[in-house]
Order: sequence, then structure tokens, then C-alpha cells
Amino acid sequence: MSAMPLNQDSLPSRDIRDKLIIGLDLPSVAEARAVVDRIGEAGTFYKIGYQLAYAGGFELARALIAEGKKVFLDLKLHDIGNTVEEGVRSVARLGATLLTVHAYPQTMRAAVAGKAGSSLKILAVTVLTSYDDNDLIEAGYAPVSAAELVARRAAQAREIGVDGIVCAATEAERVRGIVGPDRLIVTPGIRPAGAEAGDQKRIVTPAEGIRLGADHLVVARPIVKAADPRAAAEAIVREIAGA
Ligand code: C5P
Repeated sequence: MSAMPLNQDSLPSRDIRDKLIIGLDLPSVAEARAVVDRIGEAGTFYKIGYQLAYAGGFELARALIAEGKKVFLDLKLHDIGNTVEEGVRSVARLGATLLTVHAYPQTMRAAVAGKAGSSLKILAVTVLTSYDDNDLIEAGYAPVSAAELVARRAAQAREIGVDGIVCAATEAERVRGIVGPDRLIVTPGIRPAGAEAGDQKRIVTPAEGIRLGADHLVVARPIVKAADPRAAAEAIVREIAGA
């Protein structure tokens, strides 16, 4: 019998692969496209953030969607309601699956209105993980801890009907307690055992992230900077399947 082609048959199901969102944190569409092509069937869901979005990333998003991939636009929108609503409507038309907005009540309401009738899901960013209690005071907030503000905004996100929350895996259980079982929890800060932490401070392995209740894991550098991005993505997908 002739050798089987690449081991696509042994990859976990599409549903499992969709749990891994690969962050295309790269400076150009050419570099991002090269990584996507190397990852092949192991990657089904890609995140495009500021860096790539403003360097041609929206066209890449359209192309990936046309190829059957899912796209998470990590644009962290925040503006007056009308502008957010119309911006979200454009993102919905583009065919993206996930979009982030900052968890200000007015912004979240506008985003929920803008995605109406589409399959786009809105994720709220409660408090940026680079902010601590002192950064909040410096930004003009009355004394409130970052943890309190995360909890308050997660509750508001649930009430307003936002589809999910982005948070560190280490916060996932607490956030799940606030938003309930039906909202998505998407967590960055994931590192396979042995991978470099980089600037991430609160890291967990892919299996731990899933066990803590994350629906999707966002992983960028451990895959896109790997010598073999496909092998790196496959290893994480298998770990997710095992969890
Ligand atoms: O390379 P790494 O796996 O650390 O990348 C994580 C991705 O998740 C990056 O795109 C980063 O911007 C994003 N992210 C994060 N922490 C947050 C929100 C988003 O690391 N709180």
C-alpha cells in the first residue's frame, strides 16, 4: 500500500481545532500568509490585531474567510455609540467570527446593536491586563481595584448581551461564575510546557486553560515564531483534545 498523504486524518475534529486561535502578530501580510500556509489544516481560526490590521490585514481576513478559516478581529473598539455601531456593522459584513470592544456599557450596547442579524460575536475586554490598580487611578478612576472593575464590567457585559469575555486563564473560573455557562471565555497567556513565557506573567498550559473553562485559547508567539509552526499548532490542538 502506498504511504498515506500528510496525516490530516489524524488531526482532531474541526470543533477541537477551532478552540485554538492563532494570533497573527506579524508585521506584514506576506509573513502572515507564509505562516498560515505552513500551518495548513492544523490552523482553522486566526486572530488579527492592530499590527497586521493596519498593514493590509483586513484583506487577509477576507481571503482567510473565503478559504473557510475563522477570523477574530482584535480591534478593541471604543468610540461614541453611533461610530461603534456602524464599525461593528462593517466588521459583521466582512464575515469575521469574533471582534473585541472595550467593556464600557455604551460601547458594548452599540456593538450588540451593530452585530444584529449577523453571526459575528462580540467579546468584551474588561480591564487591560497591563493595567494595575495604580494605572486605574492615574487614568482618573475613583479608587477601585482592577479585580473589582473586571467583575463589574463582566456583569455588565452579561446584562447587555455581549457574547463573551477576554481574560487571563487564571481569571477564567471567576469570570465564568459571573457570566454563566453560555458566554464565551477566550484566554491568551497560554504556553505549552517548556515554551518561553516572553512578557506574559500569568501563563497556563493549553490543557490547563481548557480545564479552567476557556472556550478558546489565543496563542501567538509559541506558534508563529516556532521553527515548525504546523508542528507547534498540532501539538497544542492535540493537548486541547486530550483535555
Ligand atoms: O504571543 P502570545 O501568545 O503571548 O500572544 C498573545 C496574544 O493575545 C497577543 O496577540 C496579545 O496581544 C493578546 N492578548 C494578550 N493579553 C490580553 C489581551 C490580548 O496577550 N490581555
